[in-house]
Amino acid sequence: MPDLSVTLTTPRLVLRPLQAADAAALFAIFSDPQVMQYWNTPPWDAEAVAQDYIRAEQQAMCEGQRLTLAIVDRQSAELIGKCLLFNYQPQSRRAEIGFGIASCAWGKGYVQEAASELLCHGFETLRLNRVEAEIDPTNTASGRALERLGFSQEGLLRQRWIIDGQVSDSALYGLLSEDWRSRQNHR
Ligand SMILES: CC(C)(COP(=O)(O)OP(=O)(O)OC[C@H]1O[C@@H](n2cnc3c(N)ncnc32)[C@H](O)[C@@H]1OP(=O)(O)O)[C@@H](O)C(=O)NCCC(=O)NCCS
Repeated sequence: MPDLSVTLTTPRLVLRPLQAADAAALFAIFSDPQVMQYWNTPPWDAEAVAQDYIRAEQQAMCEGQRLTLAIVDRQSAELIGKCLLFNYQPQSRRAEIGFGIASCAWGKGYVQEAASELLCHGFETLRLNRVEAEIDPTNTASGRALERLGFSQEGLLRQRWIIDGQVSDSALYGLLSEDWRSRQNHR
């Protein structure tokens, strides 16, 4: 499978592969219980988790399995989050999208900017036909972000996760390449 590594640029952001030196910044974001409230894993509890994560994502990207990019503020050069295409199924031309940014960066449209560019890369360059997302239906900020990107909710899977004894449902969202193209043409 071809290496999926890429660097993408938007007006305010650079999306680039994670590097070993990102561990401290990534740990600061994903050890925050506010950021991890709706995630399917508990908050990271040691910087070593970030180091292992970075190594695993670098390898998965080289092997063509996933595309995981750091979201970096171009002005400050600070890493503010990450976004990814994972569960990549080349034969069905489908992948799942995920994103998370530091709580201090919420409400500024950074996810719109980063995820739009990642979707553009997914549909145009990787020729995906479908991108999907799975979120906790009580994660309203994420649901709003997905709908603003053009996703529709397609289903609800009941009691799908049990994290630290807490049971939660999953909302499934989908965006087809034809939906995405028709939105681009109407802008
Ligand atoms: C889900 C999450 C990514 C949403 O972040 P966000 O900053 O609200 O997302 P967006 O980029 O869509 O920003 C849109 C918000 O910024 C505001 N905004 C400000 N400036 C803006 C701009 N220039 N462009 C667009 N929106 C802007 C919008 O009004 C909107 O606010 P609203 O939702 O109150 O109406 C964030 O809450 C997060 O990282 N959560 C933790 C991780 C997580 O749950 N991830 C989802 C699982 S995949």
